[in-house]
Amino acid sequence: MNIHHVLVVGLLVILHLMQSQAALVRYNFVVQETNYTRLCSSKNILTVNGQYPGPTISAHRGDTVIVDVINQASQNITIHWHGVKLPRYPWSDGPEFITQCPIQPGARFSQKIILSDEEGTLWWHAHSDWSRATVHGLLVISPKIGTTYPFPKPHAEVPVILGDWWKNDIQAVMEDFMRRGGDPAPSDALTINGQPGDRYNCSRQETTKVHVDKGKTYMLRMVNAAMNNIMFFAIANHELIVVGTDGAYTKPLKTNYITISPGQTIDALLVANQPRNHYYMAAKFYNSNPRSLFDNSTTTAILTYNGKYTASPPILPPLPAFNDRNASANFTSSLRSLASNEHPIDVPMTLTRKLLYTLSINTLPCTSNTTCSGPRGNRFAASINNITFDAPRTSILDAYYRGMNGVYGDNFPDNPPFMFNYTAANLSTSLQTPMNGTEVKILKYNDTVELVFQGTNVVSGVDHPMHLHGYSFYVVGSGFGNFDRKRDPLNYNLVDPPLQQTIAVPQNGWTAIRFRANNPGVWFMHCHFERHVSWGMEMVFIVRNGKGVDARMLPPPKDMPKC
Ligand code: C2O
Ligand code: CU
Repeated sequence: MNIHHVLVVGLLVILHLMQSQAALVRYNFVVQETNYTRLCSSKNILTVNGQYPGPTISAHRGDTVIVDVINQASQNITIHWHGVKLPRYPWSDGPEFITQCPIQPGARFSQKIILSDEEGTLWWHAHSDWSRATVHGLLVISPKIGTTYPFPKPHAEVPVILGDWWKNDIQAVMEDFMRRGGDPAPSDALTINGQPGDRYNCSRQETTKVHVDKGKTYMLRMVNAAMNNIMFFAIANHELIVVGTDGAYTKPLKTNYITISPGQTIDALLVANQPRNHYYMAAKFYNSNPRSLFDNSTTTAILTYNGKYTASPPILPPLPAFNDRNASANFTSSLRSLASNEHPIDVPMTLTRKLLYTLSINTLPCTSNTTCSGPRGNRFAASINNITFDAPRTSILDAYYRGMNGVYGDNFPDNPPFMFNYTAANLSTSLQTPMNGTEVKILKYNDTVELVFQGTNVVSGVDHPMHLHGYSFYVVGSGFGNFDRKRDPLNYNLVDPPLQQTIAVPQNGWTAIRFRANNPGVWFMHCHFERHVSWGMEMVFIVRNGKGVDARMLPPPKDMPKC
């Protein structure tokens, strides 16, 4: 071996180390009350490090991120890493009373976020009360060092965080909504990167601006962080090319608008190929049930080309009508996994568990002495398979790990307790009352699961963006009306279904997902509409340990918060 060989071999070894070595990344998250002004009115909001939206976490595929969460606010908090699977380590997942007790004022919790095959944009948010309204931010996972995107590297990355803003304190909005039993007060503005934009009174100065060079390509890292609604988004005169969703690559999808659910993330390329000018980026709510109150306003940011020119006033992009359920479902069902050699997929073909879960809005008798503002003087509830989830006052994960009885039951049903024409127009009010319970569904390690979500028209049919913790799942089919076990599976996409963690089940329709239960632990599943969570549209999967050390849950950290 001559010196030349030694150098080459040395370089290869270094390159190999760079590729294979996952880094340890650290962040401090100080949860605090911070004063913010929007729409000419100021209030204290809960923030991380004083920032709204919160700080972006940046890491590479396979890294481990340690976030020291320090609660300096005057209320309990938990933080969830939405879309991170945390293999064998549910201890850091965050949902209050599911995997942990809340972090109390003055307390801290060092959360270990173990990344595995996620690549793309994810996000983090509070997972207690309604705090996630202001406590959220991006979690950007770049390709491993030495590897690259499955498309030409964009010139720059642009965060696009969609949200909503109440002039009132969000805790007060939640408490008022829970007390009255009806729909929550609509937000006062929608936001892009924390700003309503110049179409709202008293918001012109702070409109978000995105500067671009003509001819260059940008990657939008988008999340819908809004509390209660799916959104449409578009940019005037510009096409978008969707390349990823929920931290997994998709086949490039050219589109004039996108539909994005609360909880969902989308990576989209934007080519700045239009005449130098100003263009609106705009978003508004999609609401399939206009009978419920909602915020029908439009939030904007301005795409601004660099250079010298006389700008004309920006024009709005056309967006689908607020109640266009076909526009919503068409976009969502157009997504396809990239399914390349570098990014292969692994759809379960033989199934060991077939589950059918109905998603319903319900009513319960008013608990206060006065009448409630829900239907017929009742209060709203919501259910999965007719069970409204009662959260316990202690952690289900802790109870499971220590074998404690009496915290939860394991009788969550595999099918709806009774069959009816789920999506019929005028369903009997006798179907409206749900059961209550804290039931979990136990899965064996490596079970191959097909879960069909069936929306119902009980009380009123709406979309439900369903989110599963600890897993990504393949969305193999969807449609309007009742799922037909004989006919519908014939049309499944088992070739390149998108890999997601949040999927909007269409209004009075169904969606089929598949996943392999290879991540032992306690994993929350819920609608990502905050009002539906408050009404009880949630349940828990417990995935048992398998054989062998790599198939077993890891032990808890020493600093788990106490109830
Ligand atoms: Cu985005 Cu259970 O959460
Ligand atoms: Cu829902």
